Amino acid sequence: MSFWTRHKAVEKNATLLLVLSLVVVSIGGIVEIAPLFYVQNTIEKVKGMRPYTPLELMGREVYRREGCYNCHSQMIRPMRDEVERYGHFSLAAESMYDHPFQWGSKRTGPDLARVGGRYSDDWHVDHLIAPRSVVPESIMPDYSHLATTSLEYKYIADDLIANRRVGVPYTDEQVANARNDLMSQANPDGGSSDADALQERYGDKAQARDFDGNPDRITEMDALVAYLQMLGTLVDFTDYEPGLSSNQR
Ligand code: HEC
Repeated sequence: MSFWTRHKAVEKNATLLLVLSLVVVSIGGIVEIAPLFYVQNTIEKVKGMRPYTPLELMGREVYRREGCYNCHSQMIRPMRDEVERYGHFSLAAESMYDHPFQWGSKRTGPDLARVGGRYSDDWHVDHLIAPRSVVPESIMPDYSHLATTSLEYKYIADDLIANRRVGVPYTDEQVANARNDLMSQANPDGGSSDADALQERYGDKAQARDFDGNPDRITEMDALVAYLQMLGTLVDFTDYEPGLSSNQR
């Protein structure tokens, strides 16, 4: 019997076709999935990544609540035009503390993965209050209410705990000081503020200042701008070597 006559049997017998298909698919599945059980982590470790500070975490919540991801992605793809425009392509590790991740799939506006430090705080505040005041052709909606809405951070310690449950390594100390850290970051000149303690817990790159230009209160604008100014600034790409993941080194 030639191969083709035997193949006819498979084509005519639905059950046999199903069984054999399952066999083929399982082999493919095993080849792809089995190795994953032997690596501890599929995310390449990179220096500089840290959990978000309480203020940045709240800013991220504002970003999510306002649906910024509907128009902005946070994932730079490894293609030349993107890398030239936005900077180094995004690494998996850069969104490892995002629950849920903010990669997005729509770019009505530009990618924001590395927007941190690109503009001043004032620019962000003006742009969020009235996008067309700084970019006349912009179609971005305005978010002026953020500047007049006090940030509700009563439950910030619980937010950290919730993130810890899904794998973000917040320490007990960070949880215990969540409220203080939030206030110190948004209002470093305030009476009880301790920006040094914040940086001790989150590293030197944690930026503490009055982000919205209104020192009288902590607004949602403070949190959102703190978050935007941090985006893409944590990993130092001057000493990053692409290629091997930590478990292959
Ligand atoms: C309807 C789509 C839309 C939504 C929703 C939207 N944006 Fe935009 N955004 C744009 C467009 C278009 C631009 C480019 C023009 C401009 O700079 O205003 C832009 C630009 C930006 C920029 C400047 C980026 C750069 O590299 O120049 C930032 C920052 C930004 N948006 C933040 C936000 C934030 C934060 C939110 C949520 C509060 C948001 N956007 C919601 C459409 C949107």
